[in-house]
Amino acid sequence: MSLLITNIKQLIQVHDYNTTIIKGSDMKKLPVIENAYLYIENDTIIEFGDMSDCEGFDAETIIDATGKLVLPSWCDSHTHIVYAGDRTSEFVDRINGLSYAEIAKKGGGILNSAKTLQNTSEDELFEQSLKRLNELIAMGTGAVEIKTGYGLTVEAELKMLRVIKRLKQESLAIIIPTLLAAHAIPEEFKTKKDAYISYITEDLIPKAAALNITNYVDVFCEEGYFSIKDTEAILDAGKKFNLRPKIHVNQFTILGGIALGVKYNALSVDHIEELSDKDIEALKGSDTIPVALPGCSYFISIPYTPARRLIDAGLPLAIATDYNPGTAPSGNMNFVVSAACVKLKLTPEEAINAATVNGAYAMGISNMYGSITRGKKANLIITRPMNHYSEIPYAFAHNPVEQVIINGQVL
Ligand code: NIG
Ligand code: FE
Repeated sequence: MSLLITNIKQLIQVHDYNTTIIKGSDMKKLPVIENAYLYIENDTIIEFGDMSDCEGFDAETIIDATGKLVLPSWCDSHTHIVYAGDRTSEFVDRINGLSYAEIAKKGGGILNSAKTLQNTSEDELFEQSLKRLNELIAMGTGAVEIKTGYGLTVEAELKMLRVIKRLKQESLAIIIPTLLAAHAIPEEFKTKKDAYISYITEDLIPKAAALNITNYVDVFCEEGYFSIKDTEAILDAGKKFNLRPKIHVNQFTILGGIALGVKYNALSVDHIEELSDKDIEALKGSDTIPVALPGCSYFISIPYTPARRLIDAGLPLAIATDYNPGTAPSGNMNFVVSAACVKLKLTPEEAINAATVNGAYAMGISNMYGSITRGKKANLIITRPMNHYSEIPYAFAHNPVEQVIINGQVL
């Protein structure tokens, strides 16, 4: 199979050398070729360049992209798309003034989603999740991380992992599964949290690891959920099975989760709506990437991640949807890129870097995805006609995506 895309108005995120992370002031640069071509064989990017040099390709398929842009498909490094039902009634409660914490206290929140998921069959859960996955692919996402965490029992967590595995088998999208081992404390463990931590570390993690589906472990490190000490115990248990942390930190409270993540060589620390100078110092020189989730801030009206402080300190940043039923029921990365510009004050170049190369880094796949580089996988978006990539975040709530290509296959 060979595919030639011609007359591309802007070919975006092109790198001659394999770029796997973009940090600090480098995030302001987004390499572009105007009036370009791109040549793909099977699932791999073979050649690209100026249209005037497009000679000698004998492609089976030719797409004329006159007036359109081509860029790497979005890399959404933080989602919870395997869930059952929805939480529309909590949405209305919040409009009427209740906070996320108040809703959780009433038995809503994660416990609410867990109850629904436990009572949903594996097939039904798969069908509901596949619909969300297809919807986000159509909006330009080619690679996506999917967390468990709405099980809260070993049985239901393993069910979630099997559903993620099936999504991986049946979808073209690149899927990175994460065991969100500690998401909330079930009602029956309310007064004996230590017993629940032991249940996670001695029962859940070994059984989940034995399925060989995931390489990552996540914890909701937050007041009222899991403390630093709890998180440490869970990360230690994960480490025994080579599960690398990707953790929820600083969503509402600064507990020290960022420094802890760095200490455990976390791949990413996500949310960070709250941020201290100490957190920034901890991240400097580490391999841990901070991830901002502006859709969550938008939806539950909490502060936006102070992304400027992170980038201006020389750090990298990724952005992701956090697609989940409680705090961000949307998998639209185009919106996230726009919100990153409008609310986090990223330039379009920074936002696109955060959603492509750095998103791929936050899933451990940036050696193969996230940029247009010879030898990398052909995961691409072809936009509707537009003049400049800044129109993607500018025209917020529009859909800029006309076609999606995953591993060389045109969808
Ligand atoms: O990333 N913060 C923890 N987990 C999710 C929300 C879970 C829920 O409310 O269902 C998040 O925001
Ligand atoms: Fe999340």
